[in-house]
Amino acid sequence: MEHRRRPRYPGKNPRRFEDKYKELDPTHHPETMAKVLAAGKTPAGSHVPIMVAETLEVLRPRPGDFAVDCTLGYGGHAQAILEKIAPDGHLLALDIDPLELPRAEQRLREAGHNSGQLTLAKSNFAGLPAALARCGHRGADLILADLGASSMQLDNPDRGFSLKNEGPLDMRMNPSRGISAAHWLSKVSPQKLTSLLLANSDEPHAAPIAHHLAGRNFATTMELTAAIRRALPATAEEERELSVRRVFQAIRIEINEEFTALDTLLRVLPQCLNPGGRIAILSFHSGEDRRIKKAFQTAQHEGLYREIARRVIRASPEERHDNPRSTSAKLRWAIR
Ligand SMILES: C[S@@+](CC[C@H](N)C(=O)[O-])C[C@H]1O[C@@H](n2cnc3c(N)ncnc32)[C@H](O)[C@@H]1O
Repeated sequence: MEHRRRPRYPGKNPRRFEDKYKELDPTHHPETMAKVLAAGKTPAGSHVPIMVAETLEVLRPRPGDFAVDCTLGYGGHAQAILEKIAPDGHLLALDIDPLELPRAEQRLREAGHNSGQLTLAKSNFAGLPAALARCGHRGADLILADLGASSMQLDNPDRGFSLKNEGPLDMRMNPSRGISAAHWLSKVSPQKLTSLLLANSDEPHAAPIAHHLAGRNFATTMELTAAIRRALPATAEEERELSVRRVFQAIRIEINEEFTALDTLLRVLPQCLNPGGRIAILSFHSGEDRRIKKAFQTAQHEGLYREIARRVIRASPEERHDNPRSTSAKLRWAIR
C-alpha cells in the first residue's frame, strides 16, 4: 500500500477544515472525536443532534410506527427514532443535500438499518405528500423537521457558508439547483437586499450594508465578510461580527428559499399525519419560529390539530454549555 504523508499544520491542533483528517474519519479516530465533543465543539464533518431527548418526548415514537425525518443531516435524530420504532417500524428520511445524503445513508446502513426499516430520498420537504406517496403511505405517525443548515454544510469551506474559512461564495444546500450566493449578490438591487436583510435576519444596519454589497462581485466568503466589515466602520467590533453572521444567514435563507419551503411544509403537514400523529419542529431564528407558531395556531383554530405547544421548549443549560449551537434552538409541536 502506498505510504501517505500525514498532513502538516502549524501549532498543536489543526485549524483548517481540510487538516482535520482525524475528525473527518471518526471510525478510525474515536478518541479525537470524544476530545473535540468534550471541548464543546462539533467535530469536522459531523453534526451534534440538538434536543434529542426533548424531541423524543414530544414525538413519542413507539415500536411499529411509521416516522418521517424531513431533514436527515448527519442522522442523529434519525438514529434515535429508528431505535424507538424498531423492530417493525419504518423511517422515511429526506434531505436536499446530494453530497451529505449518501454519507448519512452509508452510516445508517452500517449501523444495521436495512431497507425494511429505512427509506432515504433526496427530496425537498415541501414535497412531503409526494414523498409519502412514493413510499406507499398517505400519513405518518410522527414527523420531525430540524430546520436550517447542518454543521457539515456550515463548516466545510468548499460549500461556501463558512464565516471563518475561505471558500467559493456558494451557500447552496443543493449545489445542483438554483444560483450561488455570489451570482445572486451580483444581480440584486440595494432596495431588495435591504428589505431581505430586515425580513430574514432583523439586521439593524441593513441599509448601509446593502449599499456596500448589492450588485457587486464577490468570489469568496472572505471577500464578503471583509466587505460587510468595511460597510460598518464606526460600529463596535462585537456588533460588527454579529452583523456578519446575520448577513450570511439572510443570504443563505434567500438562496435556499428556506421560508418558501417551510411555509409549504406547514401548509401540508396536517394532511401528512395520521389521526393522533405528532409533529415536532426545531427552528433557529425568529423568522422561522414566528411562521411555525402562527401556522400551528391557525391549523388548530381550523380543527386540523387537536393540541399544539403553548410555549417553545429550549435546550437545557447543560446542552447549551456542551453544544453552543443549541442555544438558539426552539422546539414546537402539534398533534393531529
Ligand atoms: C440542522 S440539519 C439536520 C440535522 C439532523 N437532525 C441530525 O441529527 O443530524 C438540517 C438538514 O436539513 C436539510 N434541509 C434544509 N432544508 C431542507 C428542505 N427544504 N428539504 C429537505 N431537507 C432540507 C439540510 O440539507 C440539512 O442537512
